[in-house]
Amino acid sequence: MSDSIGVAVIGAGMAGKAHMAAWRNAPSLFGSTLPPVRLVSIGDVYEPLAAQAARRFGYARHDTDWRAIAAADDIDVVSVVVANTLHREIVEGLLAAGKHVLCEKPLADSLEDARAMASAADAAAARGQTARVGFTYRRAPGLAAIKQFVEDSTLGRVLHVSGRYWTDYGSSPEVPFSWRFAGAPGTGALADVGSHLTYVAEFLAGEVRSVNGGLFTTTITERPVAAGHVLRGQQAQFTGEVATVDNDDYATFNARFGGGTAVGSLEVSRVAAAHPNGLVIEVFCENGAARWDQERPSEIGLALRSDGSRLGGYRQVVLGPEHPYVAGGMAMDAPGVGWGQNQMFEYQARAFLDEVTGNTTDPLPANATFDDGVHNMEVLDAVARSAASGGASLDVRTTEGANA
Ligand SMILES: NC(=O)c1ccc[n+]([C@@H]2O[C@H](COP(=O)([O-])OP(=O)(O)OC[C@H]3O[C@@H](n4cnc5c(N)ncnc54)[C@H](O)[C@@H]3O)[C@@H](O)[C@H]2O)c1
Repeated sequence: MSDSIGVAVIGAGMAGKAHMAAWRNAPSLFGSTLPPVRLVSIGDVYEPLAAQAARRFGYARHDTDWRAIAAADDIDVVSVVVANTLHREIVEGLLAAGKHVLCEKPLADSLEDARAMASAADAAAARGQTARVGFTYRRAPGLAAIKQFVEDSTLGRVLHVSGRYWTDYGSSPEVPFSWRFAGAPGTGALADVGSHLTYVAEFLAGEVRSVNGGLFTTTITERPVAAGHVLRGQQAQFTGEVATVDNDDYATFNARFGGGTAVGSLEVSRVAAAHPNGLVIEVFCENGAARWDQERPSEIGLALRSDGSRLGGYRQVVLGPEHPYVAGGMAMDAPGVGWGQNQMFEYQARAFLDEVTGNTTDPLPANATFDDGVHNMEVLDAVARSAASGGASLDVRTTEGANA
């Protein structure tokens, strides 16, 4: 790679489009300190979708086989945004072909695959390649602000955490079977949205060291099979067949975080009617408490014990240029202009390009490593084993290698 960077996105579904827009907009965050970014190809096995997405987001071409992207000399950076079971083969192929890879969460569908991918990433790093996993919510200014308040002692040490990610995308039995409903217990809501909730809780409270109280339920055990290509939320034609669902519609567990003194409870669902994207996290700390809600991402609730009981309680803090990610990053970086989930992908993409090009002028923390992705999956795996054993307490390796 020399005077420009060629990018491609594999997977043109729901999150793939967020990646396409993100590579397009990333150079405009924090000034023009990056080499030009070329939007080269969109890869999807469903050709009409790949073609349409390439047109919509201004990519020069589309491909229907990821191997064409791996082989292309004009592509340097690739997002992998397909079903979790497909991550390993595609990521390993891209790394072997010399690409820098940003892979979606969870890193893979199994611990074995995730660990193999981390080994491939280590080998690629030795050749100067970057491989990162998209822990997108780490880019939310509200969560970054709460983290600052924990670290600068405004809030102080986290005592306990309560988090939930309630979604409703599976709440109707008419929602057809898809890759999200395939696999063993733990590969359902836990892997899909629990992977996000776990790293969000860790972002604020420190790494998970042990889990207990794992509990899953599958509430809709058969789903209709769709005819043809169907994306989430789209009306489907059915074949008349049904497929069995074994993985979790709902999952909950408790965890110990950080040095072992912070504890918390996390709960996820894909059958929580009326909650399309209900990620809420609340931390209770030495000096107060804070709360962030994905459906109101431009604000946080903050309560400080020093306010005393007469003026105590949550205050609404509207995020603006004094908080992370806003000043110099957003096109209009004025107070009170709002913030959305799509923007997190832009900052994630920008941080990736900064790392690939060695650009150090931006104030962005790097994206999560594949080792972080393996740890995330080790937490989810421990939750699945806890659930299988009636709620046992199980230790989890941290990225430093220590247990609780
Ligand atoms: N970071 C986030 O906020 C976020 C949000 C949603 C999904 N995700 C992750 O993104 C990934 C994709 O999820 P999604 O909701 O976009 O899925 P999706 O089902 O909407 O889209 C997947 C696309 O991949 C295509 N595809 C299937 N096999 C392929 C192959 N071999 N090569 C190329 N394309 C292929 C399908 O045709 C489909 O268009 C998952 O890992 C998911 O966990 C992350």
